[in-house]
Amino acid sequence: MLYFLFFILFLILSLLFLFFFYQIYTLFLQPGAVYYPTTDSSVKEMLKISQLTSKDILIDLGSGDGRILIAAARLGARAIGYEINPFLVYRSRRLIKQLKLEKLVSVKWKSFWKADFNQASIITVYLFPHLMKRLQKTLEKKLKHPVRVVCNDYPFPGLTPVKKFKNIYLYNFNSSIALRKK
Ligand SMILES: C[S@@+](CC[C@H](N)C(=O)[O-])C[C@H]1O[C@@H](n2cnc3c(N)ncnc32)[C@H](O)[C@@H]1O
Repeated sequence: MLYFLFFILFLILSLLFLFFFYQIYTLFLQPGAVYYPTTDSSVKEMLKISQLTSKDILIDLGSGDGRILIAAARLGARAIGYEINPFLVYRSRRLIKQLKLEKLVSVKWKSFWKADFNQASIITVYLFPHLMKRLQKTLEKKLKHPVRVVCNDYPFPGLTPVKKFKNIYLYNFNSSIALRKK
């Protein structure tokens, strides 16, 4: 019995260690943001401001527990998440399966810096503010067609949003459309 309890304790501690290891890994090696989910009301607003329809393909950069992907799929859109934390990948995939949304939603265990952004018509972003400039440059370089980019909390520092509602910012991206701040 005692061995069993030690084993459970060891398992819990190992999982905790792995979880925090991934948070540190994310901070320094594949920077994005630590896990901090968007509130349900902001998820609704992000999808509303982007005018998402069932024809859209949404990519969430750092998809966490999959809440934005699931909300998009409930409106009939296809959705792809890039998530670096394997616990969150597992958790979101399980939830997606339980909700029978696998045909519309997939989660890739991969850094979003290596994502194929051109699959998307809408990209959702909730990242550390100091990475927004780098992300802007990456999107400007890689996007080949117009994409609506919706940011939660932190705007792109050099661009004027086409719409703003509270802490949510909408940008029309490809190199010619995104409006630069004067
Ligand atoms: C602030 S949370 C946002 C989660 C989700 N998008 C939401 O709005 O609820 C940022 C997420 O990005 C993930 N992340 C951080 N860096 C990443 C990277 N380089 N590639 C993929 N995911 C990353 C984190 O693990 C975390 O789940």
